[in-house]
Amino acid sequence: MRNFLSTSDWTRAELEQLIDSALSFKRGGGDSRQSKPLAGRSVALVFFNPSLRTRASMQIGVYELGGNPVVLEPGGTSWTLEHRDGVVMDGDKTEHVAEFVRVLARYCSAIGVRTFAALKDWEEERADPVLAAFAKYSEVPIINLESAMHHPCQALADMMTIREKLGAGRKRVVLTWAWHPKPLPMAVPNSFALAAAQMGHEVVIAHPNGYELDDELMKTVRQQSAVAGGRIEITNDIEAAFAGADAIYAKSWGSKQFYGKPEKEIEVRAQYRETWIVDEQKMARTNGAIFMHCLPVRRNVIVTDSVIDSGASVVIDEAENRLHVQKAIMMKVLSDE
Ligand code: CP
Repeated sequence: MRNFLSTSDWTRAELEQLIDSALSFKRGGGDSRQSKPLAGRSVALVFFNPSLRTRASMQIGVYELGGNPVVLEPGGTSWTLEHRDGVVMDGDKTEHVAEFVRVLARYCSAIGVRTFAALKDWEEERADPVLAAFAKYSEVPIINLESAMHHPCQALADMMTIREKLGAGRKRVVLTWAWHPKPLPMAVPNSFALAAAQMGHEVVIAHPNGYELDDELMKTVRQQSAVAGGRIEITNDIEAAFAGADAIYAKSWGSKQFYGKPEKEIEVRAQYRETWIVDEQKMARTNGAIFMHCLPVRRNVIVTDSVIDSGASVVIDEAENRLHVQKAIMMKVLSDE
C-alpha cells in the first residue's frame, strides 16, 4: 500500500509518470484500461479547513473515475477529532483518529485529508502530527490534500504546468516570498521547492531575512537537487532573483522566529509591503517568465492586477491541473494496493 504524503516519498521517474498520466487525462484519454476504474468504490475526503480547488477537484475527480466521494468536515459534519495518542479525552474532542480512520477504511478505498498548520507551536507542527496519525492508523492509502508541512498535489500540478508551458528540461524557477497581512503556513513553498528540486530545476528561493524554510526540509531539497543535477540558490534580494527567471512562483509564509506570535510578526513584516510584491517592473527583469500561484491569492497584495491578468499568468491552468494530477495519483495508489 502506498500513501501520497510528500513528493519526496516518490522518485523523480515516478513523479514524471504521474505527470504523463495527468497529461493523458487532460487530453481526454486517461491511462486506464477501464473507463471507470473507481466504479463501486468510495474515497473519503476529510477537510479540517476550507478549500475551493482541492475539494471541488477531488470530488469531481473521484466522480469522473466512476467512484463516490464522501466529504467529511470534523467538527462540522462529523465529530471533533483528537489525534494525540494517550490523551484523556475529557475536553472538546469527541472521537479519536484511531477509530475515525479505521472505520472509514472499512467503507472507502482511500482517504484524502486536509489539515493546515495551526501556526501555534513550530516544533510540534513541523512533524505534521495530524497527517502522521491518519497514516499510522489507515489500512487504505492516504492522500495529503495539504498538511502543516506539505501540499504535494499542488506541487505536482505546478510541475505539470511548468512542463506544459515551458517544455521539458531544466528551468530557472523562482519561489518568491510576498507580503501578506498575516502569517500563513509553509506547506505550499515547502512542496514547491521540494518538487522543483526533484525535477532538476534551477531553484531560486527569495525571501526577506528571517523567513527561511525549515532546515530539515532544505536539507532534503538540496539532496534531491543534487540527485537530479539541479541547483539551489537562496537570496534576500527580490530584484536580483527575478533576473533571467523562466517561472515566478509567488507565495507568502510565516516566520519561524515569530511562530505563534502573529501580532509581533505582523509588525515586523510591515516593512516588506512595498518591496515584496510581484509587479510588472519585476516581471520585466525575467526571461519572459510565467507567473504562478496556488490560489487563493490577494490581488494587489501578493501580485498586481496587471501581472495576474496578463498573458504570463498561468494560475487558472495550475488550478485545472489539480484535477488531472489527482486523478493520476488516485489511479496509482489504488492500483498499487
Ligand atoms: N490551492 C489550493 O489548495 O486551493 P484550495 O485551498 O482552495 O483548495
